[in-house]
Amino acid sequence: MQIAIDGPASAGKSTVAKIIAQKLNFTYIDTGAMYRASTWLAREHKLSYSDEKGILAAIDKEKIELKNENGQQKVFAGDKDISQDIRTPDISAHVSQVSALAGIRAKMVSLQRQMAGQMNVVMDGRDIGTTVLPAADVKIFLVASAHSRAQRRMLDFKERGIKTNQSLEEIEQDIAERDYKDSHRKISPLKKALDAIEIDTTSMTIDQVVNAILSEIKKSQ
Ligand code: C5P
Repeated sequence: MQIAIDGPASAGKSTVAKIIAQKLNFTYIDTGAMYRASTWLAREHKLSYSDEKGILAAIDKEKIELKNENGQQKVFAGDKDISQDIRTPDISAHVSQVSALAGIRAKMVSLQRQMAGQMNVVMDGRDIGTTVLPAADVKIFLVASAHSRAQRRMLDFKERGIKTNQSLEEIEQDIAERDYKDSHRKISPLKKALDAIEIDTTSMTIDQVVNAILSEIKKSQ
């Protein structure tokens, strides 16, 4: 079974996707982490964020892997655990540039389809319902106001122990910029699939969102 959860930055996708995967005993796949890891590799190898060939070579050399360790999803580049390093504001500021590169997208989409072909998945991202898994059993498009998404991101930084000097307004601006770039790129932009169910999470609790999605999954069975 394939559950696709798309939406703009910090709409709560990964939080609810993880819970749903756990409840259904499915595998959670965070596709944003794969683009973040590619961006991290570009930085680590001192490559330009538009150097498609160089970044692809670094991906082939270092091998990006998503691993589940004690119920927690970890991201590795080779042997190095980069789960925290890929969440910094610097990576967030450049990831849209890397994720717009055709060769990088082709590589990631192929890896994502391979994973979804082998197991039951809850996959979150921007183009899962439109491009990666167009025949997904359930497609959800999560949205929330820019302000509440900025608040969530700030809380997320605190919880992860990531220090930032950014104000709430600056975080909101960064999120809006990233959404603009992700929605306006040429290849598989952030877009609601025609058959996706839109859920506005602005004034919903996590439990409410999880239950709404679970009931959609039940309906589809
Ligand atoms: O989900 P997250 O905010 O971690 O995603 C980081 C970035 O990765 C997005 O802003 C977008 O540029 C890219 N992305 C993408 N397609 C996906 C998932 C993420 O282009 N399926």
